[in-house]
Amino acid sequence: MGDARGGSWLSGLGARAAGSMALPLREYVEHGAGAGVTAGEAAAGWGRLRLRPHVLRDVTSVDPTVELLGCSSRVPWGVAPTSLQRAVHPDGELATARASAAAGAVMVVSSNAGSTFDDIAATGVTWWLQVYLPSDRTLAGPLLDRAVAAGATAVVLTVDTPVVATWHPSEALIWDLADPAWTRVNFDPGYDDQPGSEKALDLGPHDIDWLRERTGLPVVVKGVLRGDDARRCVQAGAAGVWVSTHGGRQLDRSLSTAAALPEVRRAVGADAEVYVDGGVRSGLDVVTALAAGADAVFVGRPVLHALVEGEAGVARWHAALLTETVEALRLAGCRTPADTRDLLADDADEGPYPV
Ligand SMILES: Cc1cc2nc3c(=O)[nH]c(=O)nc-3n(C[C@H](O)[C@H](O)[C@H](O)COP(=O)(O)O)c2cc1C
Repeated sequence: MGDARGGSWLSGLGARAAGSMALPLREYVEHGAGAGVTAGEAAAGWGRLRLRPHVLRDVTSVDPTVELLGCSSRVPWGVAPTSLQRAVHPDGELATARASAAAGAVMVVSSNAGSTFDDIAATGVTWWLQVYLPSDRTLAGPLLDRAVAAGATAVVLTVDTPVVATWHPSEALIWDLADPAWTRVNFDPGYDDQPGSEKALDLGPHDIDWLRERTGLPVVVKGVLRGDDARRCVQAGAAGVWVSTHGGRQLDRSLSTAAALPEVRRAVGADAEVYVDGGVRSGLDVVTALAAGADAVFVGRPVLHALVEGEAGVARWHAALLTETVEALRLAGCRTPADTRDLLADDADEGPYPV
């Protein structure tokens, strides 16, 4: 995977994509909220964790498959929900979906997506719907019904966005330049003009239960950074808790997800699945996150960087991450993601995570 300068294809991805994106789009993709503290610390967070590898183990055959919400995923990562994929490449979500289907990875589809749920489902990808709930919950009904009818297998409720954090682009805001066809095509026309359609400020654990009842699907809560909140989610019926800072795009100065993950895993135990995103850029990051307690990791910006090259770019990204992940598993003496559970050095005294 090396290139002429000795870096990997994955490590050079962001810089190469930057050259292909107009400034407003680049700023939209890359920005963090506030002073960018949390966005800036995300990747370094994984580099701060230390591993205790096993040796004298047969790693001839490595199987990176994981079971997520009862379905097999051929890789221990999935695509995080991101909007404006059609601004990055005309094929948008469909290119991401085709490449992810071929890789056997889950794709989480943003409720702001610019491709219809039916078209995404037709690629054969396993997909979960991401939602923000509006003040008037009943207004979410048609979107949820459409997703269920199109075969979404889980709902991801994003809970870190009571308001969208302020940021200051240096040029025009991409949303002002974006073609309306690139976003929110799964909502009824005029949805945003209805009273009660603004993001809910009063989300609570009962919304988890409501979503589960309303859709009949497992609910994953995205944007949890504390063990006590994770427990509340599980007690309210969440099937999964997703440790995330929204890519550092919400509360600046939030701790890194690498730092938050072990506490959340401990609080949840084996009662629900735990996912993480934020700054995962390499196969070693994937293995470190698994060791720190994640059942799977999700990735946002690098998928957009790869999507500059359409389906082929996203396919190459999955392939490169797989190569690196298998190498890291072998070096750590692990044949499966489950074997990573006792690798984290900082938690050596506490033993393996209870999963
Ligand atoms: C351009 C962009 C758009 C995003 N849109 C959404 C979204 O619609 N819904 C959501 O829950 N998270 C959204 N996120 C957050 C991602 O799902 C994810 O939490 C974050 O990107 C992970 O960090 P990473 O980019 O370092 O991998 C977005 C992130 C980016 C960069």
